[in-house]
Amino acid sequence: MAYQDFQMDNQWLPFTPNRHFRKDPRVFVAASGMHFTTHDDRQVLDGISSLWCVGAGHNRRPINEAIKAQLDTLDYATAFSVSNDKAFRAAEMIAHMAPGDLNKVLFCNSGSEAADTALKVALAYHRARGEGHRNLFIGRERGYHGVGFGGMSVGGIPANRKVFGTALLPRVDHMRFIHDPVNHAFIHNAEPEWKEDILAELENRILPLHDPSNVAAVIVEPISGSAGWYLPPKGYLQRLRQICDKHGILLIFDEVITGFGRMGTPFAADYYGVVPDMLNFAKCVTNGVIPLGGVICRDFLYDALMNGPEHVTEFFHGYTYSGHPVACAAAIATLDLFAQENLFERAGQMGQVLGDAMHAAFKGLPNVVGIRSLGLAGAVELASIPGSPGKRAYDIFLDCYHHGVLVRNAGENLVLCPPYIVEKSHIDQLVGTLADAIRRHA
Ligand SMILES: Cc1ncc(COP(=O)(O)O)c(C=O)c1O
Repeated sequence: MAYQDFQMDNQWLPFTPNRHFRKDPRVFVAASGMHFTTHDDRQVLDGISSLWCVGAGHNRRPINEAIKAQLDTLDYATAFSVSNDKAFRAAEMIAHMAPGDLNKVLFCNSGSEAADTALKVALAYHRARGEGHRNLFIGRERGYHGVGFGGMSVGGIPANRKVFGTALLPRVDHMRFIHDPVNHAFIHNAEPEWKEDILAELENRILPLHDPSNVAAVIVEPISGSAGWYLPPKGYLQRLRQICDKHGILLIFDEVITGFGRMGTPFAADYYGVVPDMLNFAKCVTNGVIPLGGVICRDFLYDALMNGPEHVTEFFHGYTYSGHPVACAAAIATLDLFAQENLFERAGQMGQVLGDAMHAAFKGLPNVVGIRSLGLAGAVELASIPGSPGKRAYDIFLDCYHHGVLVRNAGENLVLCPPYIVEKSHIDQLVGTLADAIRRHA
């Protein structure tokens, strides 16, 4: 099928340079396992799990069959004041997988909705306890929590914020970023050990400025994913947990990327041994096949809101498609498939292979200023072209696509995060193609 067969006048593409896309369209028409088929009948290796979603690989029969069966059984039912069997089962499986007493699942449809949901739970919780003055949120520079006004406000990627400044939530502050490009530019399956206490700023400046008693929640990605796979210093998340506990501040982990196996464990919370008060998920929970997201809350949050007359809704929040039966059927099949094929363990093992390959192939190449790998993901960071931030990485992304691999450009980074079913030969192709492209764009 030639690309001229697509009429491209009507779709406005998300997070895409639209005008350039029209000159060089990249359109998928089929996918299986690790590969896409393009509109011009080429195979492209999916090096990014279709934006961190497709952990089990594309077009997996058990998930497809579960969806088809659900469509023929219960296609849809409203979620308000009634529910469906698959939503209960999916919530049970997710809660069972989550650490500690993260037991109550509020479903939504995306990571952005999960961010807004978690922030609203935090406000409602504090108000229910008579601490409605706790209404300030703390995010982190270069954090990404989606594109809703809440998530955007606590997020810290400048390009996502700059146009919308006046509409951002007013009661938000941000902790400093977690990267040290001088001492920890190259990280290979390790946690960077900082001499400096990076959270001293939170304790000694940000919290005293606002007074900790006014702070509702801190929200972080355990690993800064969308910014370009930046890893927290050793002990950072543990210390953040301690600071939040000391001041009665809720801790939210946004695990939309790290959740469901990317680190070789169910969640990054397990990898780092830190249990947040809320954990946001989306993407891999359905293998990306159908939109589903959610917030897993610790029991005490739910309990605090279960008050007032029994006929009155306790938490005025939810979506028409919260716990959609087809999405939940997909989640159940996905989580079963992850378990049957030991895919989380496999992600951990292949992460080692990916990290080894990236460091061997990229170190010393022109313009490479950093390489970071942990779990089944890694990023190579390049020197910016003066006056054209992001251009080198974008050009390399295009080059890789035209040489048969899909990588992700994020700022000056190229990110690799293949499906958990990835084989060594795929990793060799991904890394080899990316290394060649880096050389071509020196
Ligand atoms: C950590 C994190 N939170 C939230 C989101 C937003 O998710 P969505 O695009 O499903 O709204 C993303 C998307 O990549 C993400 O990485």
